[in-house]
Amino acid sequence: MGSSQCHFTFLPLLLVSCFFPDHIFTVGSLDHRVHRNLLARTTKLSATPERRIQMRADAPFKIALFADLHYGEAASTDWGPLQDVNSTTVMNTVLDIESPDFVIYLGDVITANNIMIQNASLYWDQALSPTRNKGIPWASVFGNHDDAYFEWPLEWFSAPGIPQIHCPPTTSSVEEECSFKGTGRLELMQNEIKHNALSFSRNGPRDLWPSVSNYVLQVSSHDDPQSPVAFLFFFDSGGGSYPEVISNRQAEWFRRKAEEINPDSRVPEIVFWHIPSKAYNKVAPKFGIHKPCVGSINKERVAAQEDEFGIMDILVKRTSVKAIFVGHNHGLDWCCPYKKLWLCYARHTGYGGYGNWPRGARIVEISSNPFSLRSWIRMEDGHTHSEIILS
Ligand SMILES: *[C@@H]1O[C@H](CO)[C@@H](O)[C@H](O)[C@H]1NC(C)=O
Ligand SMILES: *[C@@H]1O[C@H](CO)[C@@H](O)[C@H](O)[C@H]1NC(C)=O
Repeated sequence: MGSSQCHFTFLPLLLVSCFFPDHIFTVGSLDHRVHRNLLARTTKLSATPERRIQMRADAPFKIALFADLHYGEAASTDWGPLQDVNSTTVMNTVLDIESPDFVIYLGDVITANNIMIQNASLYWDQALSPTRNKGIPWASVFGNHDDAYFEWPLEWFSAPGIPQIHCPPTTSSVEEECSFKGTGRLELMQNEIKHNALSFSRNGPRDLWPSVSNYVLQVSSHDDPQSPVAFLFFFDSGGGSYPEVISNRQAEWFRRKAEEINPDSRVPEIVFWHIPSKAYNKVAPKFGIHKPCVGSINKERVAAQEDEFGIMDILVKRTSVKAIFVGHNHGLDWCCPYKKLWLCYARHTGYGGYGNWPRGARIVEISSNPFSLRSWIRMEDGHTHSEIILS
């Protein structure tokens, strides 16, 4: 959530010694088994732009949500890179125990406002690597930190090798107005897609840019790749380089797209974005967590989007929308009902970002025939809690 939680005192010379981790793309080294697996389980049809992923035989479709990993935070300190090592361990533990079919990176994958290399894709890639190394496909959405401006004091930019400063052309108080713009959303996403056969992420329709991660994925039945079991809708809830909102154009995109691919609302739809909408405030439990809400931590206030332009009205009215999953608040992990749908938090997965609540990942499980949607939280120490049936 907010970017003011980190307080660092560094000497300028730390800048000079900041380290640039090597990055290795391992797609080329995926073994044949993984490639076959991928080919067998995914289908791309040119007839529709939507990508599809097929369920395995006789098994529910299991998704792990990795929220708020914050890779690259305080990269020049001793402890910054250790946070990332810890986050990698959390992901590996969850992936080993749960063996999910799919992973969703639910935003704040990196802490761009602390990354002092121009190419934040290197850190983005580190965050993807545990999932990629196990041959598991994934999709990602943006959070408010992923393309946030570099925040450290301007005088730090004087040393050689430090990213270029971009200033507006006509400014009187240069010190105030200049800012370093890091790697943008589009570039982060293009780098992810270009280098990863396992990525189902998309840049989204051009007319929604600079809101980028808006796309839909079809989960198909095992028997028939044409037959949808669920649609997963991904939204960019803003933040960083532009306001924390889901715009009316995004709302309109959803309305049209859902109408086009699911005209009679027969197929359940599940929604993923980073920053909770204001409706989360309305359902937030007051003290502790009581039924019908289910969860284990309720340690802070909902940090909602700045404004609302109709998306919630549309989602609530569509009977096929079952649940929304968000990250952003590291100290909240509950699900609460709101009208006909469920509003759920993921669980803080990364060691980066504020808060020391134990790390974990929310698991979402989709079953077909009959459809059901189940969820629980898997912790780093292996135990689970907060199991709930959402549909
Ligand atoms: C890494 O994880 C260990 C075990 O949870 C913890 O004690 C340590 O403080 C973590 N390190 C950082 C830098 O977060
Ligand atoms: C940034 O890194 C990615 C790999 O993560 C690479 O493909 C891309 O070319 C790099 N961009 C620049 C401008 O260095």
